[in-house]
Amino acid sequence: MFASVIIPAAGFGERMGATIGKQFLLLNEKPILVHTLERFQSCADIQEIIVATQRSSFPIIEEFKKKYSLSKLKAPVEGGERRQDSIANALKVVDADAEIISVHDAVRPFVHLREITQSIETAKYFGASIVAVRAKDTMKQASTDGRVERTLNRASLWNVQTPQSFQRKILVDAYDFAFRNDIVATDDSYLAEQIGILPIIVEGSYENIKITTPDDLLLAELLAKRFIP
Ligand code: CTP
Ligand code: MG
Repeated sequence: MFASVIIPAAGFGERMGATIGKQFLLLNEKPILVHTLERFQSCADIQEIIVATQRSSFPIIEEFKKKYSLSKLKAPVEGGERRQDSIANALKVVDADAEIISVHDAVRPFVHLREITQSIETAKYFGASIVAVRAKDTMKQASTDGRVERTLNRASLWNVQTPQSFQRKILVDAYDFAFRNDIVATDDSYLAEQIGILPIIVEGSYENIKITTPDDLLLAELLAKRFIP
């Protein structure tokens, strides 16, 4: 079976507030994006890796490919204004043989091989899968002015991560539908839900953080010291 992964890496990292995109910040002397790419390079279930990034970053992606022997890495594609646009651009160049397409944030370097494999296997049989972890905190629903409306049942709540994997047609149709109907989301599975596909959850790990703000970077430095893929 042929599986491709799309890695959106075209963000500016505004919440991180660094001088460069957070995907290029170093962790153990290696860019965060390279850690992420190495996870997929070493996963036997992945045949092709497509990175969407700003055009000015194309040369550095080519350099990563050589320096870190990332043989599965294809030529980068240009990112778009929103994460969704970046992924849509990458979708256009996915190999014709790909049956499963996974999407994984460039800034989640602590993904385990088991999560990638189970995500792909689950999508193969059920159409769509998301890696997620059980909510740890009690969750409240509130109005925009901060008044609590109700307490949600934590047992049924999950924090959603990536990878998210899809049978090829499902992801393509979901993106087509989103663009035709002006649906915007930072979560790919939400777009699949809009065409009636309900993803299956693969229980993941709390280590698979999305590096978003400076405090995440501190945590990432600790995780990098002990992470076992
Ligand atoms: N991303 C992308 N194209 C965009 C926006 C985001 O490819 N137009 C990517 C980011 O590079 C990141 C992933 O989507 O790997 C998740 O997005 P997020 O954590 O929001 O990253 P940024 O958009 O860079 O950060 P911020 O929202 O703080 O600016
Ligand atoms: Mg963003």
